[in-house]
Amino acid sequence: MKKILTAILSAVVLFPTLAGEKHDLKVVNVGPSQTMVRIHAIDNYLMLPVQESVDDSKVELLVNGKIVKTFYVRLANNNVDYTVPFNLSPYKGENVVLRVTAPHSQTVLNTSLHPGKQTVRKELWLSDLKLADTLNVSNTEKYRPVYHHTPLYGWMNDPNGMFYKDGVWNLYYQWNPYGSRWQNMTWGHSTSTDLIHWEHQPVAIEPNDLGSIFSGSAAIDRNNTAGFGENAVIALYTSAGDYQMQSLAASTDDGLTFDNYADNPVITLPTEARDPNMFFNKETGLWNLVLAHALEKEILLFTSPDLKTWTLASHFGKGLGARDGVWECPDLFELTVPGSGDKKWMMIVNLNPGGPFGGSATQYFIGNFDGETFTADTTPGGYVPTKWLDFGKDFYAAVSWSDAPANRRTVIGWMSNWQYADQVPTLQFRSANTLPREIGLFRGADGQYYASSKPSPELLKLRQQASVSLKNVNINRLGHTVELPAANDGICEIVVDIVSNNNPVRLTLSNAAGDKVVMAYDSKAHLFTFDRTQSGNVDFNENYPALTVAPTFENNGKISLRIFIDRSSIEIFEKDGKFAMTNLVLPTEPFSQLNINSTSGNARLSGVTVYPISVENK
Ligand code: FRU
Repeated sequence: MKKILTAILSAVVLFPTLAGEKHDLKVVNVGPSQTMVRIHAIDNYLMLPVQESVDDSKVELLVNGKIVKTFYVRLANNNVDYTVPFNLSPYKGENVVLRVTAPHSQTVLNTSLHPGKQTVRKELWLSDLKLADTLNVSNTEKYRPVYHHTPLYGWMNDPNGMFYKDGVWNLYYQWNPYGSRWQNMTWGHSTSTDLIHWEHQPVAIEPNDLGSIFSGSAAIDRNNTAGFGENAVIALYTSAGDYQMQSLAASTDDGLTFDNYADNPVITLPTEARDPNMFFNKETGLWNLVLAHALEKEILLFTSPDLKTWTLASHFGKGLGARDGVWECPDLFELTVPGSGDKKWMMIVNLNPGGPFGGSATQYFIGNFDGETFTADTTPGGYVPTKWLDFGKDFYAAVSWSDAPANRRTVIGWMSNWQYADQVPTLQFRSANTLPREIGLFRGADGQYYASSKPSPELLKLRQQASVSLKNVNINRLGHTVELPAANDGICEIVVDIVSNNNPVRLTLSNAAGDKVVMAYDSKAHLFTFDRTQSGNVDFNENYPALTVAPTFENNGKISLRIFIDRSSIEIFEKDGKFAMTNLVLPTEPFSQLNINSTSGNARLSGVTVYPISVENK
């Protein structure tokens, strides 16, 4: 457990703790834009200094004169923002060469002393490369979440290939191991036995000759349909080279390492298509796969007996849903209607841009699926309504775990937005996942089925002894203020039960620095709003300050909320999951208070409980 805790809490600063001997590293400039770095690999890591504002250099690793790896990194010119490790341990004892091609020629015109053009190479990285044996992984990031999954270092976007096996929740993710902006797409990997504590695992799938590794899915091949062995874990992902194609990789060690299939790619199309998501259909005995036909804004549905040969069975979505952006990262699964036991199918389609509050967001359709064709439910007027899985700005690329226990449909998203994700003010790592959620169905007053999103039950274990517990508090204009737990920087879950008496209720989070998040429940309009325009650090991108709005689906003027506050995010769930709202929030110092008032007339808080969360003490 200690190890797991260290992993989850290890937000990192990476710096060498044992500098290698200088003679193990030799830097030779061979022209205005190329440098050869010769290394005798004794140490485990070469630490690459990164400056985010400069362009990428191309780095090729040569072993015995052959290129074995190519990646891109923003090598520092005049300032080092952070360093990233290049893992030398596979080449221990060998001589390797990194050939670095700078983005621009570094030729400068010299003075009259040395007339003519001369190469002057003075980028900082040339003198700042270091060898290291170990990495120091202590947190230096103010905004590193405490109980949300983050990569140990580097950029992360979509969750990928999640599957559950033998008590372990596997989570892969779009990862750049060489910097905190999008590049070098690789499947990073973390595992958890409780969806709270994540242990970082070695890299799972690295870019290869077909391209970098874009999003995809994984599932257990129980009947060995693909021939990699019973219970092999099969991943399907998009190979992103000059064109996008779908490729297969198989794991016979429960998802720790993957071998690419020799006959990749398994699906090719003349147009942009990505993010394959497959599942075994027990009814038909075949595999189903949904694939985003990104620019056509439709989903392609395929079938296969063996995960290698795929037949296009149908198209879904042309002309339907939100379409102001590309369609990405689909998912399709069955849900049971509570009470009746009837089955419905849910198709998730992520969209970027074109979300309700700008930028990326997750839409879904409820309908029926016959093994080949998905048909979305319509309104009595024959219209297919657009539905959103989350009503914040920072919930994207959401897909579900395959093979989750007890018929659970557990979903996790990337907690950011393509509008500003690479400018969020963190350095050593960038982006977290949302909390995991359980998806269910409920019927709205309009007769439509909607997806409910409830925090996964494991999250109840985060609750420490309540620091505030109140019942039946009447509130007026001044309202009632509760303190957030100062000892752990206000990180907590707040449960609030509001009886509005049909008056507007406002919930204001604040700190001594004057940062504020203003939330409001309007029972007459059946809306819940969240305003982060004054929430602290909001100026890094013009699309970041925002007001997000959710329909509350209630009709009795009462609402119960679970509000999860971490260092840089707030997630709000209606108690039965009728809406979820996920927003990044970057206060200059932690929030210390929550005031709940009624802006006109009286309302009542039938309960307010604050549960501190501090993962160390679990
Ligand atoms: C969605 C997405 C996917 C793609 C991946 C690349 O955020 O654009 O469609 O596979 O990111 O990192």
